[in-house]
Amino acid sequence: MSVKVNIRRQESADKEPYWQSFKYSGERHVSVATMIDAINRDIAASVDSGERPVEWECSCEQGLCGACAMVVNDRPGLSCQMFCDELLQEQPEISIQALSKFPVVRDLVVDRSEMFEAMKEMKLWLEAPAKVRPAHLPLQYEVSQCLMCGSCLEACPNYSLGETFTGMPAAMSALNLTLLSENKAYKKQYTKRVYEGCSKSLACQEVCPMDIPIVEAVSKMNRISVWSLWNLLGKREQPALMAGVEAE
Ligand code: FES
Repeated sequence: MSVKVNIRRQESADKEPYWQSFKYSGERHVSVATMIDAINRDIAASVDSGERPVEWECSCEQGLCGACAMVVNDRPGLSCQMFCDELLQEQPEISIQALSKFPVVRDLVVDRSEMFEAMKEMKLWLEAPAKVRPAHLPLQYEVSQCLMCGSCLEACPNYSLGETFTGMPAAMSALNLTLLSENKAYKKQYTKRVYEGCSKSLACQEVCPMDIPIVEAVSKMNRISVWSLWNLLGKREQPALMAGVEAE
């Protein structure tokens, strides 16, 4: 198989991005990650071209680390889990670019620091021994699979750098910690930094490479943080966003 691959490149954070086309020749059922490797091998083989290899990140190539997240054919996801033969069913060429919600470091490498800094500001860690409740374990298992790859933030219409809204990586962690402890701080942080900024587009669930049941997790967290607080304040009318949601 031979296919045209268009990659959006950027030499450094302060340089203008540009598109460059490559030709991939090889097996059809390969991941995008494998294909980028092959393109880089071709670049390395033509030493006289002066071309620099395409920079990208990966660690596991098994869908476990989240490092290789990028936008392929306009959809965010893990490049090691997106396959050329499937992509070519949608369109005859493949386009690859870095996640746009984070600053580009080089080519397909982005700086996700703000996502991690926001989680640090929210103090998303246990400060007392965990209380494991078997009934909560299935959902905790699901949300703890979050790779913090940033694919959900790329798809989210509400997330942008420098804003209060942190998106779903922090929300999944806040829910996990809330289910493991009595600490109300996680609920407060969730209300301020997730609930108040989420417009429920649910694009996050659509693109999550781990298929985390984000809608179920978020409605659970809303029940145990926002709606219970609403009740506590003695508010009679349920806010529109919480329509149909029972307090826990
Ligand atoms: S390289 Fe680890 S998820 Fe793709």
